[in-house]
Amino acid sequence: MLRKVKTGILGAEWQASLERSRVMSILWIFSPGYTGMVGYEQPWPLPRLYQPTTTVLELDVENFQFQTRGPGCPLLTAAFSRYYQLTFDDLTVAPTPVLQAREVWGALRGLETFSQLVYRLDTGEFVVNQTFIQDSPRFAHRGLLLDTSRHFLSKHVLLQNLDAMAQNKLNVFHWHIVDDQSFPYVSQTFADLSLQGAYNPQSHVYTPSDVAEVIEYARILGIRTLVEFDSPVLLCWYSGIMKSNPAVQQFMLQKGFGTDYAQLEQYYMQNLLDIVGGLDKGYIIWQEVIDNGVKVRPDTVVHVWKDGWQKEMNNVTAQGYKTLLSSCWYLNYIAYGDDWVSYYNCEPLNFNGTEQQKSLVVGGEACMWGEYVDNTNLISRTWPRASAVAERLWSPASVNDYRTATARFSENRCRLVRRGLAAEDVVGPGFCDTEYLN
Ligand SMILES: *[C@@H]1O[C@H](CO)[C@@H](O)[C@H](O)[C@H]1NC(C)=O
Ligand SMILES: *[C@@H]1O[C@H](CO)[C@@H](O)[C@H](O)[C@H]1NC(C)=O
Ligand SMILES: *[C@@H]1O[C@H](CO)[C@@H](O)[C@H](O)[C@H]1NC(C)=O
Repeated sequence: MLRKVKTGILGAEWQASLERSRVMSILWIFSPGYTGMVGYEQPWPLPRLYQPTTTVLELDVENFQFQTRGPGCPLLTAAFSRYYQLTFDDLTVAPTPVLQAREVWGALRGLETFSQLVYRLDTGEFVVNQTFIQDSPRFAHRGLLLDTSRHFLSKHVLLQNLDAMAQNKLNVFHWHIVDDQSFPYVSQTFADLSLQGAYNPQSHVYTPSDVAEVIEYARILGIRTLVEFDSPVLLCWYSGIMKSNPAVQQFMLQKGFGTDYAQLEQYYMQNLLDIVGGLDKGYIIWQEVIDNGVKVRPDTVVHVWKDGWQKEMNNVTAQGYKTLLSSCWYLNYIAYGDDWVSYYNCEPLNFNGTEQQKSLVVGGEACMWGEYVDNTNLISRTWPRASAVAERLWSPASVNDYRTATARFSENRCRLVRRGLAAEDVVGPGFCDTEYLN
C-alpha cells in the first residue's frame, strides 16, 4: 500500500528567495513514504541538487492541497489552481490553496518542478518519488525573443508561448514588437504608425489592451516582458529614406558628419540613451551601439548577437558592462537533425576573460526571428529547441552532457505536447505516451 499524501508542503520545509535580479531558489523535501513502483518523470531544466529515491508516495488527489504557512497572495492562489490542473491533468477537483513563501517567484518555479515529478501508475494512482531538491537558477536573465514584425503573431500564440516558457523556467519575454517590415503596435499618440505600418490595421495589430493582457499573463507566470521598439532612425536608414532626405543631409553637414551615416546614428543613439538614462531607467542595447563607440551608462546591459561572440563578450565585459548572449541561440536557423544539441552545448562563459568579467554575464536569450515564422509554426519551431537554452541558463554548468540529457529532453518535449502545445520532435524516431491531437 502506498501512503497517501495530502498537502503540497508534505510536512517539510521549503524556502524561496528572490534577489534583486530575480534570482530564485527553492527547496522541496517530500516526506518518507513506502513501496516503490515504476516511475520515470524527471524535471527539465535539471535542478541544482536533485536526489530522487525509489520510494514512491501516492498523492491523494481529491484531498490534495497546496498550502502556505503564512500570508498568501493572489499570484500564488492562481498558481496553485494552475499547477493542480497541470499536475493532475484531467481531474477537476477544486483544491483549497494556501501557502507560505518568502518570495513568490521561487515558489512558482518550485510548483513547476513539483508538477513535473508527479506521474501516474498503470493502476491510475498519482504518485511522486520521495525526492530532495535544492534549486536556484545559474543566470538571472533567461529570455526568449519573438519577432512580431516580419510576421504577425496572434495573441493566442503569444500566450501559448508564455506557457511553454514557464514550463522551462524562462523568465524574460523579449517582444521585438515592431521593425522595418511592419508596425503592429497601436500607439495612442501616433496612430498613423500602425494605420500606415501594420500589415492590416484592423486584424494585424496589438492594441494597448492586448499588450497589457500579454504583460499581465506573463507576470502571473513569473515572466517579465521587455517590449522592444526598434528605433525609427534605423527604420529610415534601412528603407533608404535618410539617403534621399535633404533636411537630413543639411543637418549632417552642419554637424560636420559629411556623408558618414554611422556618425549620424551614433549622434542619434547618444541623444536617445541620454534621454532614457535621464529617466533613471536601466537599458539593454544591442552590441552595435557599443561597437560604434556610443557612450553608455556603466550599468548598461549589452546584448551580444553577432558571430564572434567570444571576442565580443571579452571586450564588453573588459569595459565593465553587463552582457547577455544570443549569438549561438538563433533558433530560427533550423537544420535537419538534432539541432538542439548545438544550443545545449553553447556555454556562455566560454570566452577568455577574468572571473570578474564572467560575473558580468547576466544570462542570455533564445531568439526566434520571424522571417519564416507565423502562427502556423511559431510554437513547433521554437519548442522544444528553446528548452535546450533554458537548461543551459538554469542548471549548473556541469549539467552539460547532451547524451545523458536526451531522454529527459524528450520527456520534456512530450510534457509540452501533453499540455497542449505543438512542440515538434527534434531527437528522431520515437513516440509520446500522449500524442498531439489538436
Ligand atoms: C522512482 O521510483 C521507482 C520505483 O522505485 C524507480 O523505478 C524509479 O527509477 C524512480 N525514479 C527516479 C527518477 O529515480
Ligand atoms: C573593444 O573593441 C573596440 C573596437 O571594436 C576597441 O576599440 C577596444 O579597444 C576594445 N576594448 C577592449 C577592452 O578590448
Ligand atoms: C582564448 O585565447 C587563446 C590564446 O589567445 C586562444 O587560442 C583561444 O582560442 C581563445 N579562446 C576563446 C574561447 O576565444
